[in-house]
Amino acid sequence: MGIEKVGVVGCGLMGSGIAQIAAQAGCSVVVREVNEERLNKGIASIEKSLAKFVEKGTLSAADRDAARARLRGTTKLEDLKDSDLVVEAIIEQLPDKRELYAALDKICPEHTIFASNTSSLSITEMAFLTARPERFIGLHFFNPVPLMKLVEVIRTIATDPKVFDDAVAFAGRVGKVPVRTSDRTGFIVNRLLVPYLLDAIRVLEQGVASVEDIDNSMKLGCGYPMGPLTLLDFVGNDTTYYIANIMFDEFKEQRFAPPALLKRMILAGWNGRKAGRGFYDYSDPAKPRAMQLT
Ligand code: 3HC
Repeated sequence: MGIEKVGVVGCGLMGSGIAQIAAQAGCSVVVREVNEERLNKGIASIEKSLAKFVEKGTLSAADRDAARARLRGTTKLEDLKDSDLVVEAIIEQLPDKRELYAALDKICPEHTIFASNTSSLSITEMAFLTARPERFIGLHFFNPVPLMKLVEVIRTIATDPKVFDDAVAFAGRVGKVPVRTSDRTGFIVNRLLVPYLLDAIRVLEQGVASVEDIDNSMKLGCGYPMGPLTLLDFVGNDTTYYIANIMFDEFKEQRFAPPALLKRMILAGWNGRKAGRGFYDYSDPAKPRAMQLT
Protein backbone atom coordinates (compact mmCIF):
# COMPACT_ATOMS: atom_id res chain seq x y z
CA MET A 1 0.00 0.00 0.00
CA GLY A 2 1.43 3.40 -0.94
CA ILE A 3 1.66 6.43 1.29
CA GLU A 4 -1.38 8.63 0.55
CA LYS A 5 -2.37 10.07 3.91
CA VAL A 6 0.32 11.98 5.71
CA GLY A 7 0.28 13.37 9.22
CA VAL A 8 2.83 15.99 10.22
CA VAL A 9 3.44 16.84 13.87
CA GLY A 10 4.81 20.35 14.30
CA CYS A 11 4.06 23.24 11.94
CA GLY A 12 7.22 25.26 12.56
CA LEU A 13 9.95 25.95 10.04
CA MET A 14 10.46 22.30 9.07
CA GLY A 15 6.99 20.83 9.71
CA SER A 16 5.24 23.49 7.65
CA GLY A 17 7.60 22.85 4.73
CA ILE A 18 7.09 19.08 4.96
CA ALA A 19 3.31 19.46 5.09
CA GLN A 20 3.43 21.80 2.10
CA ILE A 21 5.49 19.59 -0.20
CA ALA A 22 3.44 16.50 0.70
CA ALA A 23 0.23 18.38 -0.19
CA GLN A 24 1.81 19.68 -3.40
CA ALA A 25 2.72 16.08 -4.29
CA GLY A 26 -0.95 15.02 -4.03
CA CYS A 27 -1.02 13.52 -0.55
CA SER A 28 -3.84 14.25 1.83
CA VAL A 29 -2.14 16.03 4.76
CA VAL A 30 -3.12 16.79 8.35
CA VAL A 31 -0.63 18.98 10.21
CA ARG A 32 -0.85 19.35 13.96
CA GLU A 33 0.42 22.14 16.22
CA VAL A 34 0.01 22.53 19.96
CA ASN A 35 -2.11 25.69 19.78
CA GLU A 36 -4.05 27.82 17.27
CA GLU A 37 -1.53 30.65 17.31
CA ARG A 38 1.37 28.46 16.21
CA LEU A 39 -0.82 26.60 13.76
CA ASN A 40 -1.99 29.81 12.10
CA LYS A 41 1.59 31.04 11.84
CA GLY A 42 2.68 27.79 10.20
CA ILE A 43 -0.24 27.70 7.77
CA ALA A 44 0.45 31.35 6.86
CA SER A 45 4.06 30.47 6.02
CA ILE A 46 2.83 27.64 3.78
CA GLU A 47 0.46 30.01 1.98
CA LYS A 48 3.26 32.54 1.57
CA SER A 49 5.57 29.92 0.09
CA LEU A 50 2.87 28.64 -2.31
CA ALA A 51 2.17 32.24 -3.36
CA LYS A 52 5.89 32.72 -4.06
CA PHE A 53 5.93 29.70 -6.38
CA VAL A 54 2.86 31.01 -8.23
CA GLU A 55 4.49 34.45 -8.52
CA LYS A 56 7.62 32.81 -9.95
CA GLY A 57 5.56 30.74 -12.40
CA THR A 58 6.71 27.38 -11.05
CA LEU A 59 3.22 26.52 -9.74
CA SER A 60 -0.15 27.27 -11.33
CA ALA A 61 -2.88 28.97 -9.31
CA ALA A 62 -5.05 25.85 -9.79
CA ASP A 63 -2.31 23.57 -8.42
CA ARG A 64 -1.80 25.94 -5.48
CA ASP A 65 -5.53 25.79 -4.67
CA ALA A 66 -5.55 21.99 -5.01
CA ALA A 67 -2.52 21.67 -2.70
CA ARG A 68 -4.08 24.00 -0.16
CA ALA A 69 -7.35 22.00 -0.27
CA ARG A 70 -5.44 18.78 0.51
CA LEU A 71 -3.95 20.32 3.64
CA ARG A 72 -5.72 20.58 6.98
CA GLY A 73 -4.42 22.06 10.21
CA THR A 74 -5.39 20.78 13.64
CA THR A 75 -4.44 21.04 17.30
CA LYS A 76 -5.73 17.50 18.01
CA LEU A 77 -3.29 14.63 17.72
CA GLU A 78 -6.25 12.23 17.27
CA ASP A 79 -6.82 13.77 13.83
CA LEU A 80 -3.71 11.92 12.64
CA LYS A 81 -5.36 8.55 13.22
CA ASP A 82 -5.82 7.71 9.52
CA SER A 83 -2.23 8.45 8.49
CA ASP A 84 -0.15 6.01 6.44
CA LEU A 85 2.90 8.03 7.48
CA VAL A 86 3.42 10.43 10.37
CA VAL A 87 6.39 12.78 10.12
CA GLU A 88 7.42 14.29 13.42
CA ALA A 89 9.09 17.71 13.35
CA ILE A 90 8.75 18.96 16.92
CA ILE A 91 11.29 20.45 19.31
CA GLU A 92 14.55 18.46 19.57
CA GLN A 93 13.98 17.33 23.16
CA LEU A 94 13.75 13.63 23.90
CA PRO A 95 11.18 13.98 26.75
CA ASP A 96 8.79 15.80 24.36
CA LYS A 97 9.34 13.16 21.69
CA ARG A 98 8.82 10.36 24.21
CA GLU A 99 5.44 11.76 25.22
CA LEU A 100 4.42 12.29 21.60
CA TYR A 101 5.38 8.83 20.37
CA ALA A 102 3.61 7.15 23.31
CA ALA A 103 0.42 8.98 22.31
CA LEU A 104 0.85 8.39 18.56
CA ASP A 105 1.48 4.70 19.10
CA LYS A 106 -1.98 4.39 20.65
CA ILE A 107 -3.77 6.62 18.12
CA CYS A 108 -2.34 5.27 14.85
CA PRO A 109 -3.13 1.88 13.30
CA GLU A 110 -0.50 -0.82 13.02
CA HIS A 111 0.42 -0.05 9.43
CA THR A 112 1.33 3.62 10.08
CA ILE A 113 5.00 4.40 9.54
CA PHE A 114 6.59 6.84 11.98
CA ALA A 115 9.34 9.14 10.72
CA SER A 116 11.34 11.67 12.67
CA ASN A 117 12.85 14.76 11.05
CA THR A 118 15.42 14.99 13.83
CA SER A 119 18.85 16.25 12.82
CA SER A 120 20.72 14.94 15.82
CA LEU A 121 18.81 12.62 18.14
CA SER A 122 19.09 8.86 17.76
CA ILE A 123 16.46 7.32 15.48
CA THR A 124 17.05 3.99 17.21
CA GLU A 125 16.32 5.46 20.63
CA MET A 126 13.06 6.99 19.37
CA ALA A 127 12.08 3.82 17.48
CA PHE A 128 12.26 1.85 20.71
CA LEU A 129 10.03 4.35 22.50
CA THR A 130 7.29 2.85 20.34
CA ALA A 131 5.84 -0.64 20.00
CA ARG A 132 6.70 -0.57 16.27
CA PRO A 133 10.48 -0.07 15.95
CA GLU A 134 10.46 -1.94 12.62
CA ARG A 135 8.13 0.74 11.19
CA PHE A 136 10.24 3.69 12.35
CA ILE A 137 12.66 5.63 10.17
CA GLY A 138 14.32 9.02 9.92
CA LEU A 139 13.33 11.47 7.19
CA HIS A 140 15.69 14.42 7.48
CA PHE A 141 14.69 17.41 5.33
CA PHE A 142 16.66 20.60 4.82
CA ASN A 143 15.83 24.23 5.36
CA PRO A 144 14.06 25.76 3.44
CA VAL A 145 12.16 22.52 2.81
CA PRO A 146 10.20 23.69 -0.27
CA LEU A 147 13.49 24.56 -2.04
CA MET A 148 16.14 22.12 -0.84
CA LYS A 149 16.14 18.97 -2.95
CA LEU A 150 17.65 16.50 -0.48
CA VAL A 151 16.12 14.11 2.03
CA GLU A 152 18.22 11.77 4.14
CA VAL A 153 16.32 8.53 4.70
CA ILE A 154 17.65 6.84 7.83
CA ARG A 155 17.28 3.20 8.83
CA THR A 156 18.06 1.63 12.18
CA ILE A 157 19.18 -1.92 12.90
CA ALA A 158 15.48 -2.74 13.46
CA THR A 159 13.91 -1.07 10.39
CA ASP A 160 11.92 -3.35 8.07
CA PRO A 161 13.58 -3.10 4.59
CA LYS A 162 10.13 -2.71 2.98
CA VAL A 163 9.37 0.27 5.23
CA PHE A 164 12.73 1.79 4.30
CA ASP A 165 11.96 1.33 0.58
CA ASP A 166 8.50 2.90 1.06
CA ALA A 167 10.11 5.88 2.78
CA VAL A 168 12.65 6.28 -0.02
CA ALA A 169 9.79 6.16 -2.55
CA PHE A 170 7.84 8.76 -0.55
CA ALA A 171 10.83 11.13 -0.55
CA GLY A 172 10.98 10.80 -4.34
CA ARG A 173 7.26 11.36 -4.66
CA VAL A 174 7.45 14.68 -2.79
CA GLY A 175 10.01 15.86 -5.33
CA LYS A 176 13.18 15.27 -3.35
CA VAL A 177 16.32 13.28 -4.03
CA PRO A 178 16.56 10.63 -1.31
CA VAL A 179 19.88 9.44 0.04
CA ARG A 180 20.03 6.28 2.14
CA THR A 181 21.91 6.31 5.39
CA SER A 182 22.06 4.62 8.76
CA ASP A 183 21.51 5.91 12.27
CA ARG A 184 24.81 7.58 13.14
CA THR A 185 24.62 11.02 14.73
CA GLY A 186 24.60 13.73 12.05
CA PHE A 187 23.86 11.18 9.30
CA ILE A 188 25.66 12.36 6.12
CA VAL A 189 25.08 16.09 5.81
CA ASN A 190 25.63 17.26 9.37
CA ARG A 191 28.57 14.86 9.78
CA LEU A 192 30.29 16.85 7.04
CA LEU A 193 28.65 20.26 7.47
CA VAL A 194 29.00 20.79 11.23
CA PRO A 195 32.83 20.48 11.40
CA TYR A 196 33.05 22.85 8.40
CA LEU A 197 30.82 25.45 10.10
CA LEU A 198 32.71 25.14 13.38
CA ASP A 199 36.02 25.54 11.52
CA ALA A 200 34.74 28.74 9.94
CA ILE A 201 34.14 30.09 13.47
CA ARG A 202 37.66 29.00 14.48
CA VAL A 203 39.11 30.84 11.48
CA LEU A 204 37.26 33.97 12.65
CA GLU A 205 38.20 33.42 16.30
CA GLN A 206 41.88 33.05 15.44
CA GLY A 207 41.89 36.35 13.55
CA VAL A 208 42.69 34.74 10.20
CA ALA A 209 40.00 36.75 8.35
CA SER A 210 36.89 38.89 8.81
CA VAL A 211 33.27 37.67 8.78
CA GLU A 212 32.71 38.97 5.26
CA ASP A 213 35.99 37.64 3.87
CA ILE A 214 35.35 34.15 5.27
CA ASP A 215 31.88 34.12 3.70
CA ASN A 216 33.05 35.54 0.38
CA SER A 217 35.85 32.98 0.24
CA MET A 218 33.53 30.00 0.31
CA LYS A 219 30.84 31.64 -1.83
CA LEU A 220 33.08 32.94 -4.57
CA GLY A 221 35.97 30.49 -4.25
CA CYS A 222 33.93 27.31 -3.95
CA GLY A 223 30.51 28.24 -5.34
CA TYR A 224 28.59 27.65 -2.11
CA PRO A 225 25.21 29.47 -2.17
CA MET A 226 25.89 30.97 1.26
CA GLY A 227 29.11 31.55 3.17
CA PRO A 228 29.48 29.46 6.36
CA LEU A 229 28.80 32.32 8.79
CA THR A 230 25.71 33.39 6.85
CA LEU A 231 24.59 29.76 6.86
CA LEU A 232 25.17 29.52 10.62
CA ASP A 233 22.91 32.55 11.12
CA PHE A 234 20.37 31.03 8.71
CA VAL A 235 20.26 27.65 10.47
CA GLY A 236 20.37 29.28 13.94
CA ASN A 237 23.54 29.36 16.05
CA ASP A 238 21.69 27.69 18.93
CA THR A 239 20.69 24.83 16.62
CA THR A 240 24.25 24.25 15.41
CA TYR A 241 25.58 24.50 18.98
CA TYR A 242 23.05 21.90 20.11
CA ILE A 243 23.85 19.51 17.24
CA ALA A 244 27.62 19.96 17.71
CA ASN A 245 27.39 19.06 21.39
CA ILE A 246 25.45 15.88 20.61
CA MET A 247 27.98 14.95 17.90
CA PHE A 248 30.91 15.63 20.23
CA ASP A 249 29.27 13.46 22.83
CA GLU A 250 28.86 10.62 20.32
CA PHE A 251 32.24 10.72 18.56
CA LYS A 252 34.50 12.39 21.17
CA GLU A 253 36.35 14.09 18.32
CA GLN A 254 37.66 17.63 18.71
CA ARG A 255 36.31 18.69 15.31
CA PHE A 256 32.75 18.47 16.66
CA ALA A 257 33.53 20.57 19.78
CA PRO A 258 31.78 23.96 19.63
CA PRO A 259 34.29 26.83 19.70
CA ALA A 260 34.23 29.19 22.71
CA LEU A 261 32.99 32.10 20.54
CA LEU A 262 29.89 30.12 19.52
CA LYS A 263 29.09 29.41 23.16
CA ARG A 264 29.49 33.11 24.02
CA MET A 265 27.14 34.05 21.19
CA ILE A 266 24.53 31.60 22.50
CA LEU A 267 24.89 33.08 25.98
CA ALA A 268 24.32 36.53 24.48
CA GLY A 269 21.25 35.30 22.62
CA TRP A 270 22.85 36.12 19.25
CA ASN A 271 21.30 33.10 17.60
CA GLY A 272 21.34 34.39 14.04
CA ARG A 273 18.78 35.73 11.64
CA LYS A 274 15.73 34.79 13.74
CA ALA A 275 17.22 36.70 16.73
CA GLY A 276 18.11 39.76 14.64
CA ARG A 277 21.78 39.25 15.44
CA GLY A 278 24.43 36.59 14.97
CA PHE A 279 27.55 36.82 12.84
CA TYR A 280 25.62 39.62 11.15
CA ASP A 281 23.30 42.33 12.43
CA TYR A 282 19.90 42.10 10.71
CA SER A 283 18.48 45.47 11.86
CA ASP A 284 17.99 46.04 8.14
CA PRO A 285 17.19 42.50 6.91
CA ALA A 286 17.87 43.50 3.32
CA LYS A 287 21.40 44.62 4.22
CA PRO A 288 22.94 42.44 6.95
CA ARG A 289 25.99 44.11 8.54
CA ALA A 290 28.93 42.00 9.72
CA MET A 291 29.42 42.03 13.49
CA GLN A 292 32.77 42.80 15.15
CA LEU A 293 33.20 39.66 17.24
CA THR A 294 36.95 39.34 17.82
N1 3HC B 1 9.23 28.88 -0.52
C1 3HC B 1 9.20 29.43 -1.73
N2 3HC B 1 10.13 30.29 -2.20
C2 3HC B 1 11.15 30.61 -1.34
C3 3HC B 1 11.24 30.07 -0.04
C4 3HC B 1 10.22 29.17 0.37
N3 3HC B 1 10.21 28.61 1.58
N4 3HC B 1 12.36 30.56 0.56
C5 3HC B 1 12.94 31.38 -0.33
N5 3HC B 1 12.22 31.41 -1.47
C6 3HC B 1 12.48 32.17 -2.67
C7 3HC B 1 12.91 33.59 -2.34
O1 3HC B 1 11.79 34.38 -2.04
C8 3HC B 1 13.60 34.00 -3.62
O2 3HC B 1 12.68 34.46 -4.55
P1 3HC B 1 13.05 35.72 -5.50
O3 3HC B 1 14.14 35.21 -6.40
O4 3HC B 1 11.77 36.01 -6.21
O5 3HC B 1 13.50 36.82 -4.59
C9 3HC B 1 14.21 32.70 -4.12
O6 3HC B 1 13.57 31.64 -3.39
C10 3HC B 1 15.68 32.63 -3.93
O7 3HC B 1 15.99 33.00 -2.61
P2 3HC B 1 17.03 34.14 -2.24
O8 3HC B 1 17.09 35.18 -3.31
O9 3HC B 1 16.75 34.55 -0.84
O10 3HC B 1 18.44 33.49 -2.17
P3 3HC B 1 19.17 32.32 -2.91
O11 3HC B 1 19.10 32.41 -4.37
O12 3HC B 1 20.49 32.30 -2.22
O13 3HC B 1 18.42 30.98 -2.52
C11 3HC B 1 18.61 29.34 -0.77
C12 3HC B 1 18.08 30.71 -1.20
C13 3HC B 1 17.93 28.23 -1.57
C14 3HC B 1 18.21 29.23 0.69
C15 3HC B 1 20.14 29.27 -1.00
O14 3HC B 1 20.78 30.38 -0.45
C16 3HC B 1 20.75 28.04 -0.40
O15 3HC B 1 20.71 26.97 -0.97
N6 3HC B 1 21.39 28.20 0.79
C17 3HC B 1 21.95 27.11 1.55
C18 3HC B 1 20.87 26.53 2.42
C19 3HC B 1 21.35 25.33 3.14
O16 3HC B 1 22.50 24.96 3.14
N7 3HC B 1 20.39 24.68 3.82
C20 3HC B 1 20.68 23.54 4.61
C21 3HC B 1 20.89 23.97 6.01
S1 3HC B 1 21.36 22.63 7.04
C22 3HC B 1 19.90 21.94 7.49
O17 3HC B 1 18.83 22.37 7.14
C23 3HC B 1 20.01 20.73 8.32
C24 3HC B 1 19.69 20.95 9.75
O18 3HC B 1 19.78 19.73 10.39
C25 3HC B 1 20.60 21.95 10.45
